[in-house]
Amino acid sequence: MGSALRVPLRATTISEVTTRRTVLVVDFGAQYAQLIARRVREHKVYSEIVPHTITAEQIAAKNPAAIILSGGPKSVHVEGAPRLDPKVYESGVPILGICYGAQLIAHQLGGEVGRGSRGEYGRAQMTRIANSQSTLLTSDLPDVQEVWMSHFDAISQVPAGFTATASTPEAPVAVLENAERKIWGVQYHPEVVHSPFGAQVIENFLHNLAGCDASWTMGSVIDEQIALIRAQVGDKRVICGLSGGVDSAVAAALVHRAIGAQLTCVYVDTGLMRQGESDQVVETFKRNMGIELIHVDSGAKFFDGLKGTTEPEAKRKIIGELFVRVFEQHTGGVTDAEFLVQGTLYPDLIESGGTDGTASVIKSHHNVGGLPADMTLKLVEPLRALFKDEVRRLGSELGLPDEIVWRQPFPGPGLGVRIIGEVTPDKVAILQEADAIVREEIRLAGLEREIWQAFAVLPDIRSVGVMGDERTYAYPIIIRAVTSDDAMTADWARLPFDLLERMSSRIISEVDGVNRVAYDITSKPPGTIEWE
Ligand code: XMP
Repeated sequence: MGSALRVPLRATTISEVTTRRTVLVVDFGAQYAQLIARRVREHKVYSEIVPHTITAEQIAAKNPAAIILSGGPKSVHVEGAPRLDPKVYESGVPILGICYGAQLIAHQLGGEVGRGSRGEYGRAQMTRIANSQSTLLTSDLPDVQEVWMSHFDAISQVPAGFTATASTPEAPVAVLENAERKIWGVQYHPEVVHSPFGAQVIENFLHNLAGCDASWTMGSVIDEQIALIRAQVGDKRVICGLSGGVDSAVAAALVHRAIGAQLTCVYVDTGLMRQGESDQVVETFKRNMGIELIHVDSGAKFFDGLKGTTEPEAKRKIIGELFVRVFEQHTGGVTDAEFLVQGTLYPDLIESGGTDGTASVIKSHHNVGGLPADMTLKLVEPLRALFKDEVRRLGSELGLPDEIVWRQPFPGPGLGVRIIGEVTPDKVAILQEADAIVREEIRLAGLEREIWQAFAVLPDIRSVGVMGDERTYAYPIIIRAVTSDDAMTADWARLPFDLLERMSSRIISEVDGVNRVAYDITSKPPGTIEWE
């Protein structure tokens, strides 16, 4: 799909998408920054991740309400270990350092960080230092609390003007503070659930010490985005490709709320959708929301194109190219369109290094079936500041039904990558039925929100069975169910045996052409979530 993605991208900085004062989370490595940013937002304060190479001037230009320094995998003593521009400490903006961030405060402001001898990993008991006056650990917190630690080095001496207010067995300075300079640091990880009072500490920092309002809500995001979308597109026509997935659905609903009839949505039905999916898209968008929707029923074209092809990449390529052709054909009539809505999310930007707006690279993975090759459309990306769970909340707030908002991720090439070997209409029909049973049973078991994805796969083999007195020779169905936070890694879901049994017996008795059911017990890595 690479060559099909040459869409002119405009460079937008995230701060363009909000007028609110922001908490900047300075990223010192690993995955810590994203979790911190999400925690800040849970307290209704907008946050943005910035690279640690950011200068004091760049920070000042963003006029942040507060700064949080994230954890990171390095030791402050290692050559080339990341640093914060020292002028930031003089800016007067409230700062909270977490783990590596706290060590950096000590190290850069004249304290000492001792090289650890054995470190401290996992749960630890943190004790308030007697008679120390803490503004961070408020008096309603217990004197001894459990915290989650993950450090090798430890702060051994606080900088002049700072006080140590709590310690653990391996960290003599587990909390350091200088309320006058508005700089605080915690050696532990308040952002993880294993620090039971962590959320309270973050909240105290944000709302009381840094004075941030709790005003960033999904309602405020809608208002802000409506104004920004209107300002961006004026009276021009906007098109949006609906994939049936959550992101494009929420993006379309939001843009429609902003500009109503100026939006035209295109839904390309590849014939490789899940059971009932196309009807639901039409029902929700056309009938309930009154959005102008071009529904292109092009299954026959896709089956024709896929005839005889078995190699996974070749199948993906055919599906992607056909999608682009069909999309172009049907948007050809919308000649006055100047903008294309894209459901890009914040993690997509972070992963592609584009959080400062300089490199808005779109992962081809996310766009099979997304973007025609030589469209000169400008992008409207109203979700580019949001995490997935926030997009779901936004979707509900916009009135989208749960079936769309809580939909599992679904690959662009659809069931085409869940049918091993040649894709035919008969196989799609078998897989749709089996897949609907898997998803229905997951829903009835109340596991829909715990499971990242649960679906059926149809392999290209048949096996012998017996039904009644008859020998059968039919397809197996493989059930795939995984838990995951971000699809980068995944674990096979430990589904209860009785649930697996219900799925198995229903699939065999209800789906013609299937005589065996297997459960995939492979995690990612080494497996991928999809089979192709
Ligand atoms: P894998 O199979 O690589 O999938 O572990 C990771 C996640 O990505 C989804 N996926 C896709 N999504 N277009 C998409 O929009 C694609 O071509 C595609 N392939 C895989 C997959 O469902 C899982 O959530």
